[in-house]
Amino acid sequence: MATIKAAILGFGTVGQGIYHILNEKREELKNKLGIELEVAKILVTDTSRERVPGTAHLMTTSMDEVLAEPGMQVVFEAIVNEEPAFTYLKRAVEHKCHVITANKVMFAKRGLELQDLAKVNGVFVGFEATTAGGVPVIKTMKNILLVNDVSRIQGVLNGTSNYILTKMRSQGWSFETALKEAQNLGYAEADPYNDISGQDAFKKLMILSALAFGEQPDWADVDVVGIDSISAEQVKEACEKGLRYRHVAEVEKLADGKVVAKVGPQLVDKEHPLYPVDDVNNAVALDTNYIGTLTLIGPGAGMYPTASVMVEDYAEIIGKRAGFVVTI
Ligand code: HSE
Repeated sequence: MATIKAAILGFGTVGQGIYHILNEKREELKNKLGIELEVAKILVTDTSRERVPGTAHLMTTSMDEVLAEPGMQVVFEAIVNEEPAFTYLKRAVEHKCHVITANKVMFAKRGLELQDLAKVNGVFVGFEATTAGGVPVIKTMKNILLVNDVSRIQGVLNGTSNYILTKMRSQGWSFETALKEAQNLGYAEADPYNDISGQDAFKKLMILSALAFGEQPDWADVDVVGIDSISAEQVKEACEKGLRYRHVAEVEKLADGKVVAKVGPQLVDKEHPLYPVDDVNNAVALDTNYIGTLTLIGPGAGMYPTASVMVEDYAEIIGKRAGFVVTI
């Protein structure tokens, strides 16, 4: 059986999730894809801490070492910021590795550049995990866009914010208690400011904008408001009126071709498609010309939903096998 080697860059919540799923699904993936995948390197900043038993020998702090591994062909990336992630993935692509990323900060800014570079190098970029966690919005949009035009995208794109708003409403938790629990559950970013300020949802919206419209609005023109502007009192008052706060990110292509976006809390009523989207769930509503409005809902954060779509990206890439070099 042919074997290919993979690396995981970043071994936090998502990186560990990838490792677990690849181990748990090893036999099944081997049978389905006809290829054995071996995680050969795990890139971290500190090798002294063995986060998952039995992985110490795989750890390295050096991207040179990752790329020097014979047969390295797939790189999963779950690092947090733009750099060094972009530089690592650029090097991986130039090394003819397929890359699969969960890094929305990097991808919102450098995604189009990375995809162009991948095209030149004959490799694939999987980015399903950058947006809406386990919700398959990227592959669905790619499919829809083969035939339809998308005119507007409206979504709940941050699981942590939605979880906090839900728990404040349904359990009467304070903002701080709900945030702490979101952190315990592995939903929040290392710096949760990005979740609650709306910046995380904004980055995901920009990724969807680039996919749907081939462009993003000027970032400086987008009004971004977080849930930190909402008090427990406001949540309670809204609830008494039969309304719910949702943190909504939306981008639209106007009739004159201009792409405009905004991100912020909105009060929605029972008739609104985002009303039932509770807890860590995300939702993406797409307005299209032939299908009409299509809404996808599912877990938007967490170890397994996010890691799962990255392994799906891997399976899809292997399925395509375009230019794939298999090491026997
Ligand atoms: N912190 C993010 C969220 C993780 O809560 O949605 C998934 O991107």
